[in-house]
Amino acid sequence: MIERVIEGKALIRGRIEECCIGVEGGRIVSLKKILEGEERIRIRRGLILPAGVDLHVHFREPGFKHKEDFSTGSLSALYGGITCVADMPNTDPPTLDRLSLKEKILLAGKKSFVDFLIYVGITDRNLDRLDELSSIARIFKIYLGETTGNLCLGAENLERLKEMEGKKLLVFHAEDRSCLEERSFIARDLKGYARSRPKVCEALAIRKILESLGRSKHRLHISHISSLLGLRELEHREDNVTVGVTPHHLFFNVIDDYDKGTFLKVNPPIRGKIDQEGLMESLINGDIDILESDHAPHTMEEKLTDFESAPCGIPNVETMYPLLIYYFLKKGLPLDRLVRAIAEKPAEILGVRKGKIEEGMDADLAVFNLKEVRVIRDEDLHYKCGYSPFSGYKAIFPEKVFIRGEEGIDGEDCLIDKGFGRYLG
Ligand code: DOR
Ligand code: ZN
Repeated sequence: MIERVIEGKALIRGRIEECCIGVEGGRIVSLKKILEGEERIRIRRGLILPAGVDLHVHFREPGFKHKEDFSTGSLSALYGGITCVADMPNTDPPTLDRLSLKEKILLAGKKSFVDFLIYVGITDRNLDRLDELSSIARIFKIYLGETTGNLCLGAENLERLKEMEGKKLLVFHAEDRSCLEERSFIARDLKGYARSRPKVCEALAIRKILESLGRSKHRLHISHISSLLGLRELEHREDNVTVGVTPHHLFFNVIDDYDKGTFLKVNPPIRGKIDQEGLMESLINGDIDILESDHAPHTMEEKLTDFESAPCGIPNVETMYPLLIYYFLKKGLPLDRLVRAIAEKPAEILGVRKGKIEEGMDADLAVFNLKEVRVIRDEDLHYKCGYSPFSGYKAIFPEKVFIRGEEGIDGEDCLIDKGFGRYLG
């Protein structure tokens, strides 16, 4: 008999239906109207969706535990319906070689509540070791412009990445360094900041990525698109190129949200209303492939300094899925589009068996009671820095979250231990 059956209303192949999800060894083994199981969990209220996969988080370990650590970050992900994350290399030490990768995997393996992957950064500094890098990882982060951590690769070096053995996932921070250097100035507020890192630098970086690597065997992902000008560069992209957007670029603009000041200081910057609305439309119609949180926490104290010295980044991992579910429902938009963007497609990009309620996939599920609308409050969130620019926004948080068939979250309670998460690199 099947180990465990989770039964209820679920989104399966784009349709909502009553279903029994049979789970064995953490995987979905059967989907049927009626299934016998040794253990049975009946979901009476709420809709069972695939849990989200977030391919862009900064959990800050090692080096910046005062901002976040792998257990608080991953617990927060789990409470937000995310069961798999990929962590960025701008830690201390940065993840740029075999040893730093190994150490981060060990550390995260002891602390993570959710399954994880770890990016290795490619910069001007380790470019001469592409052979070694190819042999230790399959996912890489490339910053084309200066941002937190100073891990930069000059666009003139992009061509070199063709040399890498195998088929890699290359994830880009697309702001062109030389373009930024020419145009940037010291900004004193959000509007100035957007001008100081203009959209043309985003568009130019994307153009250079496609020119240098567009037809290579690698998979290319453009992270956190912030402008329609940048998105236009991707209109005729090949199948191996994807683009993601963050909740902050979808929900905020520098006019209406001007007063949030440093709490919205981020790279690439928040733009105007036309970009904000255009990006949301592009997510809905599929021109943008995925959502990614770019969860980049800094302490409250760091954010409360003057605009010029405040660090860039917004914490987001726990609120992303809840905010978007509420938004899609309120606007009467199809939930399967959201699920494709927040679970299925990011899983496909990362090459993990998650993101769909289908035989062979991990039984990673998030149960949302669509009538339980909650207002986001700082004190309810589980990451370390204790604030959210989305405070006061309405959202629908998951009531239960399953990871590999185990009930990870049940209401307020977390039922698994840290270290449950596995490395999926
Ligand atoms: O605003 C940002 N913060 N953009 C980045 O690219 C990095 C991130 C961080 O790590 O703080
Ligand atoms: Zn980032």
